[in-house]
Amino acid sequence: MTIEVIPTGAALGAEVRGLDLTAPLSPETFDAIQQAWYDHLVLLFRGQRLSDDDLIRFSQHFGTLDIAPASATDMAGAQEKSRPEIWIISNVVENGKPIGALGDKEAEWHTDMSYVEEPPMASVLHSHEIPSRGGDTSFANMYKALEALPADLRREIEGRVCNHDSSTTSVGELRAGAGAVVDVRVAPGAKHPMIRTHPATGGKALYLGRRLNAYVPGLDLAASERLLDALWAHCTKPEFAWTHQWRVGDLLIWDNRAAIHRRDSFNGAERRVMHRTQIKGDRPR
Ligand code: SIN
Repeated sequence: MTIEVIPTGAALGAEVRGLDLTAPLSPETFDAIQQAWYDHLVLLFRGQRLSDDDLIRFSQHFGTLDIAPASATDMAGAQEKSRPEIWIISNVVENGKPIGALGDKEAEWHTDMSYVEEPPMASVLHSHEIPSRGGDTSFANMYKALEALPADLRREIEGRVCNHDSSTTSVGELRAGAGAVVDVRVAPGAKHPMIRTHPATGGKALYLGRRLNAYVPGLDLAASERLLDALWAHCTKPEFAWTHQWRVGDLLIWDNRAAIHRRDSFNGAERRVMHRTQIKGDRPR
């Protein structure tokens, strides 16, 4: 089967046409998808209608799946009925309980779960219901952001790590059991190199996680804040980004090792229901 890969024309992202992802993928077709994914970091497949089992089967081509964490499964409702590998991202409340995570708020720029020692390498998101407007998801290319980083900033981060706070979600809510961060220098989380090497492509990418509560050990607080502000102002420039406007049946897979993403808020009176899987990754190096 031949697939068509159509780049977005922006700094990352491509649409893949010619596939029904409920059907088995031959090794050759998967290799072509994987190469397109390495090249473009985010792939879009439109017009898919995947059951949770189909979504899991497709995602497993890329690697072993994470199991949704307690904070997601605690939400009961639809999450309970679903498979443990499926994470529901939704603002819908049923019988007084949210059926998924993240609600209707803006999710700030981040890479998924960088606050753990071995963050997921990829996330796969499939849209079931979307609001009439808002809730768009944007991505930015961290290879390109690093390539274009001014030399003085690059020198400042070579060989340095950053602490990726684990207390707060990308919509600014405290995770279950976490306390508010009063001093970022002692925030819980994982420390990762600020420049990471992609284990499959060998490319070097800026790896910052998320701005909120981040800290660069070895710097005093003011210097860490200044450096992080400069890096985030740089890597979130429109020239590194692409925004996806969802339709029902879209499936996106993104590479957390070399791309960051954010989501717009939307009208909470409308429903947005997305099913997601995550593929295990290794320790950033
Ligand atoms: C996320 O930030 O991982 C969720 C993205 C989305 O809801 O579009």
